[in-house]
Amino acid sequence: MNILLFGPPGAGKGTQAALLTQNKGMLHISTGDLFRNNIKNKTPLGLEAQGYMSKGELVPDQLTINMVDDVLKSAGSKPFILDGFPRTKNQALALETLLEKRKTSIGKVVFLNVDNSLLMARLTGRRVCKKCGAVYHIKNSPPKKDGICDSCGGEVVLRPDDSDEAIEKRLSVYEETTRPVKDYYRDKNLLAEIDGSESSEKVFKKIEKVIC
Ligand code: AP5
Repeated sequence: MNILLFGPPGAGKGTQAALLTQNKGMLHISTGDLFRNNIKNKTPLGLEAQGYMSKGELVPDQLTINMVDDVLKSAGSKPFILDGFPRTKNQALALETLLEKRKTSIGKVVFLNVDNSLLMARLTGRRVCKKCGAVYHIKNSPPKKDGICDSCGGEVVLRPDDSDEAIEKRLSVYEETTRPVKDYYRDKNLLAEIDGSESSEKVFKKIEKVIC
């Protein structure tokens, strides 16, 4: 089954997608990671996306949809997890078309529900590896050696859009533009709402139950 992980910034979408990839062999498609890779490689798409991302704004729909179209083309037949897409009604409608073209569909939309105060604590405490993108948290899951990635030895740093100002903007963009997309999937009977404030392991067990 293909699934869509939906929720506010810091809800744990990336964390749960990593667990699903490890445990279920699913393909992780994160639009945030794809943009960050483009920025790292200084591609024209990366240069364009960087301005929006650093301010906590959404990258324009058409750029994002074209990028997802390209990824789905090369995804093969493995079940996939969409993380961070769609984030607007336009993107949700475009996704329908992209999936129809490939004669596939989304089986479940997993919404991770987390209060704003906890989201702030997760985002301000998050650290990421510059080299491999592994995600840590200064309190919940710090690297064994301060500032050094356990997996690849890379430097562990604050994500550029995890500044207080950009976080505030991302949360307000989520409320205004992305949260309404939830109703679109509720109307389609695809929505499974999960309490995302529990430990990563407990949240993962709940996701396993709704997607089995
Ligand atoms: P993106 O990278 O998708 O960021 P986001 O949606 O803001 O989500 P995050 O990555 O911040 O949070 P997450 O839910 O993955 O949480 P995580 O697992 O890391 O997008 C970034 C930007 O790219 C956007 O702002 C936009 O500019 C652009 N973009 C991306 N997609 C786009 C689109 N479709 N359209 C237009 N623009 C787009 O967890 C957070 C922290 O909490 C970590 O430290 C983690 O260790 C910790 N944690 C996680 N779960 C738990 C738990 N259960 N218990 C304790 N700690 C936990």
